[in-house]
Amino acid sequence: MAFDLVLFGGTGDLAWRKLMPALFQAFRHGKLPADGRIIAVARDARTDAQYRALIREKFADVEEAKQPSPEEFERFAGLLHYQRMDLSRPEDYLALKATLDARAANTVVLYLATSPHLFTGICEQLGRCGLNGPQVRVVLEKPLGHDLQSARAINRAVRAAFSEQQALRIDHYLGKPAVQNLMALRFGNALFEPLWRRESIANIQITLAERIGVGTRGDYYDQTGALRDMVQNHALQLLTMLAMEPPSTSDADAIRDEKLKVLKSLRPFTPETVARDVVRGQYRAGVIEGQRVAGYLEEQKVPADSRCETFVALRTEVQNWRWAGVPFYLRTGKRLPSREAHIVVNFREVPHPIFAGASRANKLVIKLQPEDGLELHLMAAQGARSGDQLAPVKLDLDFDKAFPAERVGAYERLLMDALAGRLNLFVRSDEQEQAWAWVMPVLQAWAADPAGPRPYAAGSWGPPASSALIAREGFVWDEES
Ligand code: BG6
Repeated sequence: MAFDLVLFGGTGDLAWRKLMPALFQAFRHGKLPADGRIIAVARDARTDAQYRALIREKFADVEEAKQPSPEEFERFAGLLHYQRMDLSRPEDYLALKATLDARAANTVVLYLATSPHLFTGICEQLGRCGLNGPQVRVVLEKPLGHDLQSARAINRAVRAAFSEQQALRIDHYLGKPAVQNLMALRFGNALFEPLWRRESIANIQITLAERIGVGTRGDYYDQTGALRDMVQNHALQLLTMLAMEPPSTSDADAIRDEKLKVLKSLRPFTPETVARDVVRGQYRAGVIEGQRVAGYLEEQKVPADSRCETFVALRTEVQNWRWAGVPFYLRTGKRLPSREAHIVVNFREVPHPIFAGASRANKLVIKLQPEDGLELHLMAAQGARSGDQLAPVKLDLDFDKAFPAERVGAYERLLMDALAGRLNLFVRSDEQEQAWAWVMPVLQAWAADPAGPRPYAAGSWGPPASSALIAREGFVWDEES
């Protein structure tokens, strides 16, 4: 399959950190045909050779196992090309079109890894110069908009030039192997389905915790905050995968229709429920792994009086027959004690305990990172006097061990899906807009509330109000249980 992959933002942070390393892995795994071209687009004048040299330099920052050997790099570099473009100049789009037409590849993927405020203009120009034929797909990186209105404006511009089938909105969490496994767990096994409902499940917790602070991204982050950066997209996408009804087929639209229904069933927030069910926090200086780290307000490019949240915990419900009354707790933050992302499905207690000692309810832990696995926590008889005294024990499945040769990173998977036109793991515009619609009352209530985010010490699990939120119903966050 001959393809052209055009990377707008080809000298940006995302290209260095994620896209080029992922493309190289795909190449190493034999998934990138040698007759493909990767055309990086950016503003500065550069030759192909200079761009290749730059990429070689940047690969030094990639983790060692993922770095190319000199021979591998030589072969990979053969795919890399560079095209200078000023994204506001129609002539430059015509020049790009000429580059692409000269080869007439059967697949053209235009990856917009630029600042999102350029999306509208780029899509208009692409449409105008005819770079939107049926062989073309456009990939849009997050953040897709800043609120519902701006997301709609981007979608309008995208729709004016491309069909929904041609527009691929990235949420890189959907490319994580654990998310594939969540679908497999639910719809490839009959075991859990009868339990996957309010009768058996007491609550569900989604934690996306990061140890890092905002680093050098203070200017972006301060305009964004944790709700827009992590909840509106990553956390809600995971929630939809957990709560959706079984789709009738594995087609992208069958899946996305079900995900959309979940988003539409989320209990809408009001100013009162925001005050009660949403906690926002901002990190102060603290200690992480023995190192003293600065508070958010001391970070580069962050205003000293910022009210931006770096932590969110919230409670919601999916208002339908399957889930009525089951709390879904979402939590995410920067400068938390560890980098871990997991989903915990807490089952109900046994209805009538007959064994001595404290009984613990079963739980299923779906681990997204740092490892990728499943744990099923059970009670078991322990010791000589079995049956007398139960102890918690877990069945522990590590996917890296189960499938050692087959692990594929999130961006690698999503890039290959984009080239192959597999849409399952991309977000449809209606899902994305519905997710924005759901978070808008929270943003509005916060803007109107003179009390800003609650402080928490870096290295803690967020403000105490987060534990209090979940304790209200007699539950605890997983790391505290
Ligand atoms: C990005 C956010 O979408 O996801 C970042 O913009 C965040 O702020 C990142 O650090 C987390 O991704 P991952 O894959 O490292 O959990």
